[in-house]
Amino acid sequence: MTTPNPLELSAAAMRSLVQEALDRIVAHIESLPTQTVSDTEGGFAVAESLAEAMPEGGAPVAELLDLFFQRAVPPTFNTASPGYLAYIPGGGLFQSAVADLIADATNRYSSVYAAAPALARIEMNVVDWFREIVGFPPAARGTLTSGGSLANWTALVTARRERLPADFLKGTIYTSDQSHYSVAKGAILAGFPEGNVRMVATDDRYRLRVDALAERIAEDRSQGFTPFLIAAAAGTTNTGAVDPLPELADLAAREGLWLHVDAAYGGFFLLTEAGKRAMRGIERADSIVLDPHKGLFLPYGTGAVLVRDGEALRRAHSLTGDYMPGMQEDPDRVDFSQYSPELSRPFRALRVWLPFKMHGAGAFREQLEEKLALAHLAADRLRAMEGVEILAEPQLSLLAFRLAPAGVPESKLNPLNQRFLDRVNARQRVYLTATRLRGRFAPRICVLSFRTHRDRMEMALEDIAAAQREVLGA
Ligand SMILES: Cc1ncc(COP(=O)(O)O)c(C=O)c1O
Repeated sequence: MTTPNPLELSAAAMRSLVQEALDRIVAHIESLPTQTVSDTEGGFAVAESLAEAMPEGGAPVAELLDLFFQRAVPPTFNTASPGYLAYIPGGGLFQSAVADLIADATNRYSSVYAAAPALARIEMNVVDWFREIVGFPPAARGTLTSGGSLANWTALVTARRERLPADFLKGTIYTSDQSHYSVAKGAILAGFPEGNVRMVATDDRYRLRVDALAERIAEDRSQGFTPFLIAAAAGTTNTGAVDPLPELADLAAREGLWLHVDAAYGGFFLLTEAGKRAMRGIERADSIVLDPHKGLFLPYGTGAVLVRDGEALRRAHSLTGDYMPGMQEDPDRVDFSQYSPELSRPFRALRVWLPFKMHGAGAFREQLEEKLALAHLAADRLRAMEGVEILAEPQLSLLAFRLAPAGVPESKLNPLNQRFLDRVNARQRVYLTATRLRGRFAPRICVLSFRTHRDRMEMALEDIAAAQREVLGA
């Protein structure tokens, strides 16, 4: 008689495991509206108590799940909460979590077309929907990554391989002083010296200044550098600023530069009319990064890069081995391993495909329109409050502001606003974070979760008003 293999679960054991997990997941999600939003008290102690040696034997699953849900999850930034208005919110669609379970349980090899043609086709469809959203031509290709950082890096490597010789160290990259640090990091990881990344000044709305950029390009050329790529932002992390894309596309065309657009935060607002207006010209880019784990509310772990000339993406990544099955010649049969730095990877497409097919793009558009409206509502109400200064009006669903009461000198405003922000967050109904804008400490509100609605924005505004009264001693 063979001994049973504990790693191979019976049908009953699989059902029971999923049920144990599901009971806790549903309870967790249902209680999100009343959970704290950023109470990390005791989190370090829990973390330290969890350090452990590799277990030789097993433990009951209920105990393990309780440890995770009761001890590990609570003392965290609650990124799934409707009150999470910090950084760039994610969300975490349950539909995508189920898709992950299915993708992992079936565990097929979707990076090689011949190994799972229909799965590769599903990923091709997802990439093609994204292509349509940004307005790229049918010859564009793309790939799903783990997030925006890897997507920015993939775009930079593609541009470098396409536009520069093997000795590329004279190549220079231009981005604004507001761009996400993953652009500079991507350039460094693509092999460029750190000093070749030019941080160009921005205007009063934190958008890249095309005049300053043109000057810097000319100066670099005169010094023997090879300007080759502009990395614009369609929604910066600091203020949601959208760089002047039509002017940048004109300049890139005149100068023969690759135009990359980091639309990790803003890109999916292209599903809305207001977003299309704000990001007009994005379709003229050579490459674009989108982050479904931001603008499509997916759980963390999905970014996307799209390249106008799909062949350029393939040329930059196509390499195979004698031990592999044959790669496809037909461009309509995509081997994603030939368009991506990854070979083995999770089947990410299903976590986009399932919710998109279940609900349609319209459901996402409605949610995104609501987020834009909520950011404008917040800006209007803050503007009307005495002693509040809007530092960055919403260009999409993000705004920055601060308390600037009459008579308080500039030198006192940063610590005052830090105390104010701490008071807002102490209420644990919303979580806001701040940035620095030209030296000014600037609390920001970023609305992007499918769980955030008007009621929560009203709570945010109430808590802001109460915190203002507290720090001003009114
Ligand atoms: C504009 C922008 N680009 C890139 C990134 C990096 O994306 P990820 O965190 O998915 O790597 C972010 C993250 O917030 C972002 O806001």
